[in-house]
Amino acid sequence: MAELSRLAVLGAGHAGPVIARLAIKAGYPVAIATSGDPEDIALITELVIPGARPRWAADAVADAGIVVLAIPLHRFLDLDPALLNGKIVVDAMNYWPASDGVLKPFEEGGSSEIVARRLAGSAVVKALNHIGYHELEDRARPAGAPDRRAAGVAGDDPAAATAIADLVDRVGYDPVRLAHLRAGRVLQPGGPVFGTVLSLPEFERAVRDDARSLT
Ligand SMILES: NC(=O)c1ccc[n+]([C@@H]2O[C@H](COP(=O)([O-])OP(=O)(O)OC[C@H]3O[C@@H](n4cnc5c(N)ncnc54)[C@H](OP(=O)(O)O)[C@@H]3O)[C@@H](O)[C@H]2O)c1
Repeated sequence: MAELSRLAVLGAGHAGPVIARLAIKAGYPVAIATSGDPEDIALITELVIPGARPRWAADAVADAGIVVLAIPLHRFLDLDPALLNGKIVVDAMNYWPASDGVLKPFEEGGSSEIVARRLAGSAVVKALNHIGYHELEDRARPAGAPDRRAAGVAGDDPAAATAIADLVDRVGYDPVRLAHLRAGRVLQPGGPVFGTVLSLPEFERAVRDDARSLT
């Protein structure tokens, strides 16, 4: 089997550990980081994400091919974009004013497009953001399972989007490729599939019927 990319998961709150666990189960080498000292999450990582390596964010990212951003969007604004240069970046974040506060640039349009503009040296793919963290783990199924569900993948760089569609597939969802990062607006809060867990035909129908998917 071809060697899978190393993953750096930034964020060890609700979403990050679930994504890390799913990726480890799928065979990816995974490092996890917060904005602080990895020692602070060493014990919890051992207990809750066995197999993941807690690291300083810069070290985890430096060794990774794929970086998953599972941090609150308002904290993303403090992240140095240069850290992520040359990486495939999975934007698993959502703009949630109730917890992020009102962030003017994110009030209209697509949050991942703004993320991508800030991360001009990275290939940003929106994925793993639209299913709640409990369900993301509970509903994951191997390919071919009759009750397997779908998850969206939106990016402007075809090779990066293919790598992330493969990741989504391996962690337990039928990937649905959207035409562009902009079309990933259907995956964000207010979009037709946000907070839902749909089968492939249901997902494709929901997305097809939404004008945002055509942009
Ligand atoms: N909750 C869900 O069901 C779910 C599902 C999919 C996607 N999401 C999205 O994922 C994002 C995170 O949500 P959450 O609920 O997991 O948040 P959370 O529970 O508040 O956890 C945030 C984590 O990010 C870390 N962090 C903050 N700044 C960082 C940085 N610069 N580098 C590395 N780590 C950093 C925090 O640690 P320190 O503060 O110690 O640095 C903390 O571990 C949100 O945008 C959310 O919309 C959430």
